[in-house]
Amino acid sequence: MCQCNATKTDPIAIIDRIVEKYRSVPGPLIPVLHEVQGEFGYLSQEVQLMVAQRLNIPPVKVSGVVSFYHFFTDKAKGEYEVGVCMGTACYVRGAAEIVREFEKELGITMGETSNDQKFTLGITRCIGACGLAPVVTINDEVYGRLTVDKVKEIVQTYKEK
Ligand code: FES
Repeated sequence: MCQCNATKTDPIAIIDRIVEKYRSVPGPLIPVLHEVQGEFGYLSQEVQLMVAQRLNIPPVKVSGVVSFYHFFTDKAKGEYEVGVCMGTACYVRGAAEIVREFEKELGITMGETSNDQKFTLGITRCIGACGLAPVVTINDEVYGRLTVDKVKEIVQTYKEK
C-alpha cells in the first residue's frame, strides 16, 4: 500500500487519472476502488464521494461495495499491520490469547488503529505456515510459535522503530 503518493500529488488528480483509465471498462467501480485504495491506503468517505461523482453513480452504491468486500477499508491503517492468524491450527494453539495480549500491549481492540497511527490490529486466515502455529504477521514479517510472553518484546521493537 502506498500512502506516499497521495501526499505528494493532488488527490483529485489521482482519482481523475484512475477513473479515466477504467471509464470504458465494463463495471469500472471495483477496479477503480482497488487502485484508489492502493494510492491512499484506504477509502475515506470523501474519496468514495469523489469516485461516485466521477463515475456518475449513487454514493450509496460505492459505500455498499466498500462495506461488502473485506479487501476494501474506509479506515486509515497504521504504519504496522499486525495480523493474528485465526486459522484452525493457530486457533487451537492459542491465537485467542495472543490477540488478547496484543490488545493489551497496543491499547486497542481487534480492528482498531492506535491513536499514533502506528499499529492496526487485525486477524488473518491461514497463511500456510501452520507448522509454526500460532503465527502473527506484522507487515511482511512472520512470527511463528508465538507465545504470550513474546508479544510485549515484539511490540516494543516496533514502537522503537
Ligand atoms: S492456521 Fe495459521 S498459518 Fe495455518
